[in-house]
Amino acid sequence: MTLGTPHLHYRVVASTNLRAKELAGEGAPNGTIVTADAQSAGRGRQGRTWTAPPGGGLLLSVILRPFHAGLEFAPLATAVAVAETCEALAPVECMVKWPNDIWIDGRKVAGILFEGQIGHDRDEGSWLVAGIGLNAALRVEDLPFDLRETAATLGLATATEALAPLLERLSYWIEAPAEAILAAWRGRDALHGRTIRWSDGDSGVAHGVDSSGNLLVRTGSGDEVTLNSGEVHLSLG
Ligand code: BTN
Repeated sequence: MTLGTPHLHYRVVASTNLRAKELAGEGAPNGTIVTADAQSAGRGRQGRTWTAPPGGGLLLSVILRPFHAGLEFAPLATAVAVAETCEALAPVECMVKWPNDIWIDGRKVAGILFEGQIGHDRDEGSWLVAGIGLNAALRVEDLPFDLRETAATLGLATATEALAPLLERLSYWIEAPAEAILAAWRGRDALHGRTIRWSDGDSGVAHGVDSSGNLLVRTGSGDEVTLNSGEVHLSLG
C-alpha cells in the first residue's frame, strides 16, 4: 500500500511526531502523514531537539499500524528508504549510521525518530510513528552554529519535492521481506569496521546488526556485545 493518505500539513506545529501520536491515539489509519513547514519543538532521539529553518527541512511523521509481521524492521526499512530517496534526488551517496542517521560524507542529512505504543493484542491498539527530518532544501549556514560542522543538505529548491519520492520508497521498504531490508541496511552500514565508544565508556569494533537491528560490537578482549538503540549513546573512537 502507498503511505501518505490522509495528509495533514501545518505551517507551524510543535512537533509532527507529537501530532501524529495524538492522531494515532484517536485511531488515525495506517499511512496517515503529518508534515509541517516548521516545528517549534521538534524532537530528536534521546531527548534531543530537531532544528530546521522554516521550509528548509522535510518534516514528516508517518503513522504505521497495525503491527503486521515485518513491522519490527520498520526503523531499518525507513533508513534505507531515506537513503535511497536522497540518492534519487541529488548526486550524493548515503550511508546509515546505526541506528538510523543518514550520512553524506560523514555528515548528517537526515534523522529518524520512531515512537510507538504496542497494545496487548499487537493489533488495533498498536501503532508506530516514523518521524523523519530531512535536510532537503536548507542551507547549512542557516542552522544553529553547533550543527554546521556536522550537518549536510541535499540542496533542493524546496523541501516538499522530497515528499512523494520518500513516501514511494517508504511504502516499498516497509513491506519488503526482512532479509531484503537487512541486506540493504548492511550495504550502507557506516560503522562497519569502525571503533565506537558507548555510554559506559566501553569501546569495540562494530561489525553489523543482528536480525533485530541491534548493533554487534567486538571488544578488545574479544567479547561480543549487542547494543540496543534505545539504550546507548555512541561516539566514534
Ligand atoms: C534524530 O536524529 O535525533 C531524530 C530526528 C527526527 C526529527 C523528525 S522531524 C519530523 C519528526 N517530528 C519530530 O518532532 N521529530 C521528527
